[in-house]
Amino acid sequence: MKNKNLKFLTSKIDSFSFKEGKLINQQYKIIRMLGSGLEGEVYLVEELHTKILRAIKFFKPHRNIKNKNAKLYSKKLHKLRNCQAILQYVSMGEMIYWGRQIFFLVSEYLEGDTLSKYLSKQKGKRIDSFQSILLLHSLVSGLQEVHAEKEYHGDLHLDNIIIERYGLGYNVKVLDMFYHGKSSSQDYKDDLCDVIRVFYDILGGKNHYNKHQDHVRFICAGLKKNLIIKRFKNMSFLKYYLENLKW
Ligand SMILES: Nc1ncnc2c1ncn2[C@@H]1O[C@H](COP(=O)(O)OP(=O)(O)O)[C@@H](O)[C@H]1O
Ligand SMILES: [Mg+2]
Repeated sequence: MKNKNLKFLTSKIDSFSFKEGKLINQQYKIIRMLGSGLEGEVYLVEELHTKILRAIKFFKPHRNIKNKNAKLYSKKLHKLRNCQAILQYVSMGEMIYWGRQIFFLVSEYLEGDTLSKYLSKQKGKRIDSFQSILLLHSLVSGLQEVHAEKEYHGDLHLDNIIIERYGLGYNVKVLDMFYHGKSSSQDYKDDLCDVIRVFYDILGGKNHYNKHQDHVRFICAGLKKNLIIKRFKNMSFLKYYLENLKW
């Protein structure tokens, strides 16, 4: 029996699978799961005292040794708290789960669809070039603020972007940043190439590429990283380019 317990305490936790209504430290009530990945699981929760909805990312212990990862991610989010396109950090917490110490990160709850879900609801699973440029502009403006703080995103793709509002333009937020180590000039270039990759994807990808107008193809630069960097150099240049496009 003893051995069995020991094995359990050191074994990997693959999933928390918290049920609706479960209380976390008498502070939060689980509503539903929002997403899951290698690192942990994200749930929509209600903060009991205020009834405010929040999101909590629970870190799997084997992906968060000595709470290093959750701490780094928290600090990065806190540093970027004045960037309007960044998920807002609330607090860090810990709990006991089947005798194990688990750390979790509380953040604002982003109402809205991920960009991939938003696209799946659009006709042809893509948006037109004008809307795509507006969306690209929102993303680029947000990331420019992040780069100005000498930070980078590092993992930009359709599932790490949330569309909070759309209409005349888009309000976007990005989450799930890469947070290991200081940024290098390559990290900024990678964000630049990734944001253009997102633009290419929302326009319909490869199947539609040749049908686009010249300026759209100029921005995509055939997704050739060297060419993208040569043309736009950095986020600020790309933002300037978009703001001065002639229609
Ligand atoms: N604060 C949040 N508000 C709303 N949805 C969220 C929030 N955080 C995460 N999600 C959802 O959960 C998914 C997984 O979260 P994420 O932080 O990207 O973790 P992973 O490392 O598993 O990709 C996201 O793609 C998004 O759909
Ligand atoms: Mg993610």
